[in-house]
Amino acid sequence: MCGIVGGIANANIAPLLLEGLKRLEYRGYDSSGLIVLSKNNKLLRQRAIGKVCNLENKLKTNKIEGKIGLAHTRWATHGEPSDKNAHPHISKNSISVVHNGIIENYVSLKKSQIQQGYQFSSETDTEVIAHAIDFFTLSSNSLLEAVQKTLKTLKGSYGLGVISSNHPNKLIAARKGSPLLIGIGDNGNYIASDQMALLSVTKKFIFLEEEDIVELDLKKITIYNSEGTIVERPIKISNLMEGKFDLGTYDHFMQKEIFEQPQAIRDTLESRITKDRVVISAFGYKAKEDFQKINQVQIVACGSSYHAALVAKYWLEDIAKISCNVEVASEYRYRRPIILDKTLFVAISQSGETADILEALKIAKKINKKIITLCISNSAESSITRISDLVFLTNAGPEVGVASTKAFTTQLVGLALLTCALGVIKKSIDKSQEKNIVNGLKRLPGLIDETLLQENQIQKLSTKFIDKNSALFLGRGAMYAIAMEGALKLKEISYIHAEAFPAGELKHGPIALIDNNMPVIAVAPNDELLSKLKSNLQEVKSRGSQMIVFEDKDSKVMPMKGMEIIPITSNLGRITAPIIFTIPLQLLSYHVALIKGTDIDKPRNLAKSVTVE
Ligand code: M6R
Repeated sequence: MCGIVGGIANANIAPLLLEGLKRLEYRGYDSSGLIVLSKNNKLLRQRAIGKVCNLENKLKTNKIEGKIGLAHTRWATHGEPSDKNAHPHISKNSISVVHNGIIENYVSLKKSQIQQGYQFSSETDTEVIAHAIDFFTLSSNSLLEAVQKTLKTLKGSYGLGVISSNHPNKLIAARKGSPLLIGIGDNGNYIASDQMALLSVTKKFIFLEEEDIVELDLKKITIYNSEGTIVERPIKISNLMEGKFDLGTYDHFMQKEIFEQPQAIRDTLESRITKDRVVISAFGYKAKEDFQKINQVQIVACGSSYHAALVAKYWLEDIAKISCNVEVASEYRYRRPIILDKTLFVAISQSGETADILEALKIAKKINKKIITLCISNSAESSITRISDLVFLTNAGPEVGVASTKAFTTQLVGLALLTCALGVIKKSIDKSQEKNIVNGLKRLPGLIDETLLQENQIQKLSTKFIDKNSALFLGRGAMYAIAMEGALKLKEISYIHAEAFPAGELKHGPIALIDNNMPVIAVAPNDELLSKLKSNLQEVKSRGSQMIVFEDKDSKVMPMKGMEIIPITSNLGRITAPIIFTIPLQLLSYHVALIKGTDIDKPRNLAKSVTVE
């Protein structure tokens, strides 16, 4: 989604801003822009549609220099992707603004600003912020005051950076519902929506709290809360490693992240299990006490994180014997759900910044103050970790590819640990079952390594999708959620329409779709539903479909003409099977996308972290 980088330094800041934008590219965007204040206090701006390299090319031919500036990658919400809609926006040649989020009352603000004589040069909601700051400048003693007055008039969400030619040594930034941080460098002070943008200049960060406003100059950082009181926020040293953002020997981040899964899972398990026990305090020091108080679980999430939640529903009910509901956050936030006392409310989000999930969590807390909230996130300093009672970090390391891979499998590991912890506390699993689960989790890195060895075979199969427009994914039980995840991966990066069905549902309608042009991909672990799945596969095959079946070596699906069977591994259990069967589906969609020549790490229209509704 949109990205912000800005700063004030003792040398030309334009190269640093451009580098910051390149580091934000992974978030997804469709235009970019950069502005600086020149030596003689003129705002100099360049904007470009498409990739940041287009902006870079423009900057090569039209060099701009200045010690204070702002830059932005825009993911279009209001107004099409175009040069004129790209940020930064300017009012009256003096105020410039970059903005993440959505201003919900921009239509009425725009109407009154037009009456005041302001001219609009874009279709964005953001431009009203620039004009409002200009308007309040007349009645304010400082740029800070003008921004404070402006923010009081805005409805919606913002991460904001502001500079002004009338205040050449000040940069103002603010956040509400959209992440923003300050980077403290040796030669300047900076702002960004994501640490990654600034890692080349600093590892020292201050994470702004909701509704904070900050005034930066070269030497000083002053933070105000929403009441205008000066507040202190802690400085944190980032442990993100620069090297984590290099491709190394891989062609794509998605490929790298698929192959990083054994290590990501080791890191997620590190200090969360002992020889044969789950460490319950991995969920927070009060987790043991809190888990004792709950007797049902509600999970909200989006996309892949939602699929992880669906798997967890099977685990929590089958293994821990705790009732569990799962819902997509974008729907949940607009219902009036009944939330019973003694509910553990779990929000799963890789980024920890997905607007729908944050809102669902806040609404749940409003509806029932007694619930205990837990987030499962891959981002330690994210908004979700700040508003949850309990936090479980997946420790997968930065995930750059838009299509979630290692974040998904490590979420499943976190949810397996949660199932085990709740099962132990509720006494629905005994010590030997706990030991079995822990041993299964310890086997995962090795099992994934073994599964990754199937890559060549899966690559060959991917050629079957060259001329296909649609595909069906089948699974049963928890594997239905894995089929959904496989379908989402294929859609996201190869742009092939894909749908998942619980195999038993086919004959209730979707089987009408089956013909020779509709490849069907099935996942067949050796579990209690295998014989049912085998019958469903027969039904599909006898209607002429091309099939690919990923099976447990012991599943022994009967080979048929037009059916490719790829044995994965064997001896998988209820916890290990969904995680392991995810791997071939990731590899399949990766190789199909490779053949199709799509932008695998930054697929069209998608953003890594969806920070607007
Ligand atoms: O950061 P989150 O886990 O909250 O993101 C949720 C979804 O936006 C995300 O899983 C999305 O569906 C991925 N692109 C899936 O590959």
